[in-house]
Amino acid sequence: MKAKILSNREAAPGYFRLAVSATEALLRGRPGQFVMVRGEGWETDPLLRRPFSIYRFRKGMEAVEILYRAVGRGTRLLSQMKAGDAIDILGPLGNGFPDLPEGRRSLLVAGGAGVAPLISVAEAKGGSARLIMGGKTKDDISYVFEDERELGIDVTYATEDGSFGKMGTSISAMKEEASPGDTVFACGPLKMLREVERLSREMGFTSYVSYEERMGCGTGLCFGCVVMGAGGEYQRVCKDGPVFDVNELSWKDIEDID
Ligand SMILES: Cc1cc2nc3c(=O)[nH]c(=O)nc-3n(C[C@H](O)[C@H](O)[C@H](O)COP(=O)(O)OP(=O)(O)OC[C@H]3O[C@@H](n4cnc5c(N)ncnc54)[C@H](O)[C@@H]3O)c2cc1C
Ligand code: FES
Repeated sequence: MKAKILSNREAAPGYFRLAVSATEALLRGRPGQFVMVRGEGWETDPLLRRPFSIYRFRKGMEAVEILYRAVGRGTRLLSQMKAGDAIDILGPLGNGFPDLPEGRRSLLVAGGAGVAPLISVAEAKGGSARLIMGGKTKDDISYVFEDERELGIDVTYATEDGSFGKMGTSISAMKEEASPGDTVFACGPLKMLREVERLSREMGFTSYVSYEERMGCGTGLCFGCVVMGAGGEYQRVCKDGPVFDVNELSWKDIEDID
């Protein structure tokens, strides 16, 4: 569908918040679902839409917000778009996170822009949740400060250079805080997700991860986004995920990418 950009601002160096007008169907999406986005006028380069998690559901404004890091051609072009520009947006797509379990604590473990699908989990009411937000430096985490204030969520910050919060990664902070019986919701680099899977086995958590893969169609048709499932069958990240119970994936068959 065609949507209108309501705002697009740099919230921390390299990290942008994009608000776009949303249909009712999009606003009914679940935390963890994603949209495929393409700027009008991109012609053939980049040809494909780019996938982004829904960061905030802004029901009062009939808008959704996306948090993105400018890393390549598509996201750099996106960062140059202005309020009033038209954008092509497809969604909500994929499977989201389950509800926060009641009567049990949930840890939302984020690495950098991987926090995107977790802020809307924190916003959803239900059980109690603590966000563990990790990044290399303060710039990789500081855009979350305004959501923390607005939503009143509990956050532990960790930076690898010690410039804010605890010194270390979101995984080292999670190890300090987690206990068996917690539910973990995680999104971030593959290395981080591997650790979540390993710790969930060792410590007896239930864990759900939002898994990122390059996408073509985003709707299950092209098989461009497959990852090996635990049962030996390929899973399409866009259609069968992007949120998986960690036990649904075959981690030994997942190759490390940078
Ligand atoms: C379901 C899903 C949800 C996502 N949600 C967000 C989000 O909320 N915020 C956000 O900043 N990013 C998110 N991403 C990653 C985002 O889609 C990519 O950063 C984006 O497509 C890069 O486009 P580009 O044209 O700028 O970069 P390209 O020129 O295509 O690539 C530049 C760099 O980005 C890496 N990259 C490209 N696609 C992906 C990908 N799918 N996953 C990881 N790295 C990638 C490449 O390996 C390369 O290093 C999500 C990805 C998926 C699959
Ligand atoms: S991106 Fe086409 S099947 Fe997933």
